[in-house]
Amino acid sequence: MTKKEKLQKLKDSMQRDMALPLRKGATQLVFGEGDPETEIMFIGEGPGYWEDQKGSPFVGNAGAFLNQLLITAGLTREKVFITNVVHHRPPQNRDPEPSEIAAYQPYLNEMIDIIDPKIIVTLGRFSMGKFLPNAKITSVHGKKFDVNWKGKNLVAVPMYHPAAGLRSVDVKQQTLDDFKKLPGILEETRNKDNNKKEEVKQMTLV
Ligand code: URA
Repeated sequence: MTKKEKLQKLKDSMQRDMALPLRKGATQLVFGEGDPETEIMFIGEGPGYWEDQKGSPFVGNAGAFLNQLLITAGLTREKVFITNVVHHRPPQNRDPEPSEIAAYQPYLNEMIDIIDPKIIVTLGRFSMGKFLPNAKITSVHGKKFDVNWKGKNLVAVPMYHPAAGLRSVDVKQQTLDDFKKLPGILEETRNKDNNKKEEVKQMTLV
């Protein structure tokens, strides 16, 4: 099965899962979208009004800023994969509760397993908490962290949530500066991976 087919299968099982706690108040599932073969995945908080209407992540005001941030990083939505920690809109756009995040977690984890990205960019504190539980966004934003997540070596890059950039000029500028670092982080991560693969090849040759 291709990654695309595996993601479709996962989406189908989420659509059938009547136990998902936020589904009653939502119009539809906002699974996530983008290139299943990408090296870089973005995880936000949860769908808002427009995402709930359209079934796609980050298509409202925060999404427009995210599109701008991606261009700053030399990326586009089509080249990355974008999803959230919860995949139905919380009522009145309230924060997702820990039990709700936990209910959607197995699906998000499987999404990550299928896509198998080199880099995960977290947007806001809820997705940051998944990889860097004790971090403070004010001191870690825009930095790269090597994390071992479920036995997988990943690079996590915590970013401010794009909506925070719409509320503060300072945060907006810092987020633009942080996204400008992504191409360098991607290059460095690719080189490190290639060196590791080369080392393994050399070891098997001797
Ligand atoms: N905010 C999020 O965290 N996710 C979305 O999809 C939209 C807004």
